Amino acid sequence: MNIDLPMLPTLRDEIRAAGGAVTFARFMELCLYHPQHGYYNSERVKLGKQGDFYTNMHMGPVFARILARHFESVWDALGKPERFDLVELGPGDGQFARELLPWIARRFPEFASAVHYLAIEQSPRLRDSLQQALVATGAQVRVEHDLPDDTAITGCIFAHEFFDALPVHILVWHDGRWMERCVGLNGDALAWFERGPSAPTLIAEAEKRFDPEIPPGAREDGWQAEISPASSAWAKRLDHALVRGEMLVVDYGYTLDEWQMGRFREGSAMGYREHRAVVDLLASPGDQDLTAHVNFDLFLETLAKQADGRTAADVRLRTQSRFLMAVGESDQFADVLSDCTDDKELQQRARQLKTLILPEGMGSTFQVLQLRKRM
Ligand SMILES: C[S@@+](CC[C@H](N)C(=O)[O-])C[C@H]1O[C@@H](n2cnc3c(N)ncnc32)[C@H](O)[C@@H]1O
Repeated sequence: MNIDLPMLPTLRDEIRAAGGAVTFARFMELCLYHPQHGYYNSERVKLGKQGDFYTNMHMGPVFARILARHFESVWDALGKPERFDLVELGPGDGQFARELLPWIARRFPEFASAVHYLAIEQSPRLRDSLQQALVATGAQVRVEHDLPDDTAITGCIFAHEFFDALPVHILVWHDGRWMERCVGLNGDALAWFERGPSAPTLIAEAEKRFDPEIPPGAREDGWQAEISPASSAWAKRLDHALVRGEMLVVDYGYTLDEWQMGRFREGSAMGYREHRAVVDLLASPGDQDLTAHVNFDLFLETLAKQADGRTAADVRLRTQSRFLMAVGESDQFADVLSDCTDDKELQQRARQLKTLILPEGMGSTFQVLQLRKRM
């Protein structure tokens, strides 16, 4: 561990004030979002080639152009309302909107006049650069730090690698009971500790993981359940805000069936730095990304509870590959491959498209959760 990291004194103070340990969720929250030293609030470049990880957004204009076609089809299905809200959660460096908005203006001018784009980004530094970059597109844009309480959305909510960046509690099944993994100190160094769960609701959530047919005595020791109250709270807020339209979540995740079959039995939380996965979650606090796979089932359950006139057919979970193929089918990906100036650029676009779609690229790593309401 780098002992000079500016995040460390803050962490030590908070751990001592909390009586010797904080939950992993609190640790993750501080490491990613502390106003000065948090990973997403510090100056170092995080995304893309110079940063720590690539996302779909860094595949040239390809991803944004396919999504533009998709959003236009949602607008069409809604009966072409005069105003179409496009709300992006956690846009980061705004790469997506910078490609998307000018392309919509060029390719779908009628739709463009209806689009009101709203970026929700917690980082003040990223908000400033987003504001500048997006106003320059000439589109109707707003940048906010949080979703305003009175928001009523007719259009689409888009969350790309947003939920995997929200804090998770880590519960572990040990000796016939749930314990919570916490971060404390061994001298001045960060160290793992186990404590009883910090809230009874976490136990209730963790209990939903194991197959109810299997008696607790037959459960295997050491299985970990990552619980994200922050994700559940966002899901409820978004469902409330969405009046008509679609919520589109693109992320990596798993279903309960997969968890029960042993996928992520030791948890999915992972660090990333300079394009390498880091298993030690306590290494480089504030200076490495921390992320956890999204539990799509609990997410779906939260949304299903709010049912609100929705039928099961309105909720769909597919691989990114299937989703992009379905959207691109309507124009045989002509949008993506158009306006290339030479053969080299055409080849490059084709490669980017393949990376997004092929299962051995990002096509099966990412899943697309699509939830439609009153459409
Ligand atoms: C993993 S990055 C993804 C960035 C971008 N969507 C992409 O895929 O390239 C997560 C982003 O969500 C933002 N974020 C996390 N929690 C947030 C919150 N509660 N409100 C608003 N933005 C948040 C972070 O600051 C960061 O920009």
